[in-house]
Amino acid sequence: MRVPLLDLSEQYRFLAKPIHQEIEAVLRSHRFILGPQVEAFEKAICVYCRAPQAVGVSSGTDALLAILMALGIGRGDAVITTPYTFFATAGCITRVGATPLFVDIDPATCNLSPTALETFLENKCEATGEHVVFRQSQGAKTSASPSDSKCLRVRAIVPVHLFGLCCEMEAINQISEQYQLHLIEDAAQAIGAEYRFGEQTTKAGTMGEAGYFSFYPSKNLGAAGDAGMIVCREGKLASELRTLRQHGMESRYYHRVVGGNFRLDEIQAAVLAIKLPYLDSWSAARRVAADFYRSEFTRTGLMNKCVLPAEPHRDRGLTNHHIYHQYVIRAPMRDALRQHLAKHEIETSVYYPLGLHEQKCFADLGYKKGDFPETERAARETIALPIYPEISHEAQRHVVNSIAGFFG
Ligand SMILES: Cc1ncc(COP(=O)(O)O)c(C=O)c1O
Repeated sequence: MRVPLLDLSEQYRFLAKPIHQEIEAVLRSHRFILGPQVEAFEKAICVYCRAPQAVGVSSGTDALLAILMALGIGRGDAVITTPYTFFATAGCITRVGATPLFVDIDPATCNLSPTALETFLENKCEATGEHVVFRQSQGAKTSASPSDSKCLRVRAIVPVHLFGLCCEMEAINQISEQYQLHLIEDAAQAIGAEYRFGEQTTKAGTMGEAGYFSFYPSKNLGAAGDAGMIVCREGKLASELRTLRQHGMESRYYHRVVGGNFRLDEIQAAVLAIKLPYLDSWSAARRVAADFYRSEFTRTGLMNKCVLPAEPHRDRGLTNHHIYHQYVIRAPMRDALRQHLAKHEIETSVYYPLGLHEQKCFADLGYKKGDFPETERAARETIALPIYPEISHEAQRHVVNSIAGFFG
């Protein structure tokens, strides 16, 4: 039995008619970029996320790029993030001229560890009056100042809600407030994921100053191409982002700042608006599939071999405590297991096989193997199993039985 990692065919069959109708309407309107469909979808995202502002953009990558630009983060600045994420998170920080500073993950969730974050800020950075400074060569730690070329001014934290699970945002928020750092949530994989913030239920992307989603086709809410969305609190920031997504243009062909082409197109917005009302039911179906995996791993006696995804927010009175964008387990002999599953026609993936600190393009950051042991261990042990709303019990049983066969 062939089991793909993701199968969008059922979703497409279900929504083909309205999607075709809406695409045709856009084609007939001849309005292709930043029109009424984008505006309507931005409003729908505001309502869905309970976010004051939403700005449609061309991708998750461009969302982060635009946010960093809007916050004036650039050369001489540093941004703290996780090395265990998709490349774009750190790629964008580098592209604006800033330096990514990596902090290791919590092994239970693979999300940025608040404890490691606090330790990093306490031990490796210095608060000098209004600034937090990171000394590139960690030598004598005296009189650091941002005008010293070896010092970077730490400006922001970018936690990533990996695989559809929110980071421990209460602790991360506290730290960002204490050090007065911008907090930008990478919610590319986590639209709709919830977090219990004190007494309140909040959604991924809305807990910091700004957050962003990717609508890459494989995401829980996937476009028919590339698309992204920024949510934020302040109208002023939203307005700057709107200017930046159009090459910094304020009135036609008058450019106040240098921006980019980060525009969202009408066809993508139309497709996404049709899908949005179904997002929660799709994420719920993924949770049901995750529960079924757990019962199958238990049935087959695999619980002492594999580590299943942690669900730290499960008993906090939330619906979308996890949206299972990916179902990622840890297993010994991961690569051999993957080969075995491939022989049984089961598609798997590894998110991610290498920490960003070990990527060739970041060699000049000066990190080395061993710097982030939890990230490195996750990169060796994790394997993503097939998950999508319509996955059948039969397919899941085949996956787990094949894993049992491997360890048996
Ligand atoms: C964690 C994370 N950040 C950023 C991005 C970038 O989003 P996009 O592919 O829409 O540019 C992705 C996309 O896969 C992602 O998974």
